[in-house]
Amino acid sequence: MAIATPTPASADLGVTGMGVMGSNLARNLARNGHKVAIHNRTSAKTEAVIAEHGSEGEFVPGETMDDFVASLSSPRVAIIMVQAGPATDAVIGELASRMDEGDIIVDCGNALFTDTRRREADLRARGIHFVGCGVSGGEEGALLGPSIMPGGSVESYKRLGPMLESISAHVDGEPCCTHVGADGAGHFVKMVHNGIEYADMQVIGEAYDLLRRALGLTPAEIADIFAEWNKGDLDSYLMEVSVEVLRQVDARTGKPLVDVIVDAAGQKGTGAWTTQTALDLSVPVTGIGEATFARGLSSSPIQRAGARGFEGHAEEWNIEDRDAFIEDVRQALYASKLVAYSQGFNLIQAAATEYGWDISLADMARIWRAGCIIRARFLGEVTRAYLTTPDLPLLIADKYFYDKVVEALPSWRRVVSLSALHGVPAPVFSSSLSYYDGVRSERLPAALIQGQRDYFGAHTYKRIDAEGSFHVLWGEDERVEVVS
Ligand code: ATR
Repeated sequence: MAIATPTPASADLGVTGMGVMGSNLARNLARNGHKVAIHNRTSAKTEAVIAEHGSEGEFVPGETMDDFVASLSSPRVAIIMVQAGPATDAVIGELASRMDEGDIIVDCGNALFTDTRRREADLRARGIHFVGCGVSGGEEGALLGPSIMPGGSVESYKRLGPMLESISAHVDGEPCCTHVGADGAGHFVKMVHNGIEYADMQVIGEAYDLLRRALGLTPAEIADIFAEWNKGDLDSYLMEVSVEVLRQVDARTGKPLVDVIVDAAGQKGTGAWTTQTALDLSVPVTGIGEATFARGLSSSPIQRAGARGFEGHAEEWNIEDRDAFIEDVRQALYASKLVAYSQGFNLIQAAATEYGWDISLADMARIWRAGCIIRARFLGEVTRAYLTTPDLPLLIADKYFYDKVVEALPSWRRVVSLSALHGVPAPVFSSSLSYYDGVRSERLPAALIQGQRDYFGAHTYKRIDAEGSFHVLWGEDERVEVVS
């Protein structure tokens, strides 16, 4: 079936890239009363959307890019949902060559924020708005209501924002979509969201592993414990998902599904991007970093084979008070999760300063409350924390969260110690506790490191009791200190 030439300039906006995510976004827009132009490089996908879902709303299928662009009302809004990288650049090029000043191109893919900044600057020079827009919630979210993180100009948001807000998830009538900040801010925040997601998944994994190894519980029994936890502070979509996965029985073998899945975690790179960016901005995101490295370790067959049979000198587990241990693990999970979020928000703060983005952390927590993968009850409290104190130096300095961390500390310390004694890896639990002890320390061994640096590299140091930079003449007999 050939697609008829559409009525010119009648669609409210368009979506190009009719993969699962693109078509679901387009359907969501159409279902919410928007007239949506749709297009795909190969038109069979466009035809399939019309054939299967054409009755859900008003679609304007475009066979060619010319038809697609011509069908958009002015100022045009075209959403791109294709693979990140060269495909996105190619489609931007095709769209931009057909667009006019004031038109808006929106990239809803998972682009690296530096690419978004480059594309935005290029298109701005041509008078076209470019919006890098994070969309979280997977396929189902795209169709039923994702969390949406658009960057770009304030002006473009005036045209685009109401449409995106109408299709986003809502909490108490508030949309999980807001203008994040200029140029690449939306994709940056989406990247950090994904990094936090890595840490969130890893802490749940560490809790599962400890409960299993220490208490010999079955996956189904751990699912029951997680279901209980999901009624309190830890109430979250990822906890819900974990319960479902742990309860799943493999049809082929009758074993718990988790026991027949190869224990090598995959990744598409957003955790690594977050960690790399954090290193560039000197923000410790140890939770996200360790979670990313843990996935790497799990997927390193050569090293894991090379270490097979390594001695652990680990003590045998002998937990006397089962319920107390379970509560300790819950507390360790919660505290580690709070640290990971605290670090993630610090990274957004640092980027906002570096790139001149006016990002409201309260708004970020607010739009993550529903629709996205890290949606969780406690994000309501995070929103409150940043609304009360927008420049909170760290999330765990907020009284509510600080009290939670302090309450968790004895349990957290026991769990980290026990995991070390018994040879169970708990990289995010333990690194988060180290981070907490690091930031709260009066003095850190960094003073010795400064001394070492001055010794071998004349890098100088600052004194606690005088202004300026100092250096010791280490090579000389007297080793006197000089002002550098
Ligand atoms: P999903 O996983 O969401 O189903 P996908 O298979 O990754 O999506 O494909 C995403 C979209 O990117 C597809 O619409 C694809 O177009 P085709 O159906 O023609 O393959 C689109 N895409 C990929 N590379 C592209 C390119 N260079 N130019 C235009 N579109 C491209």
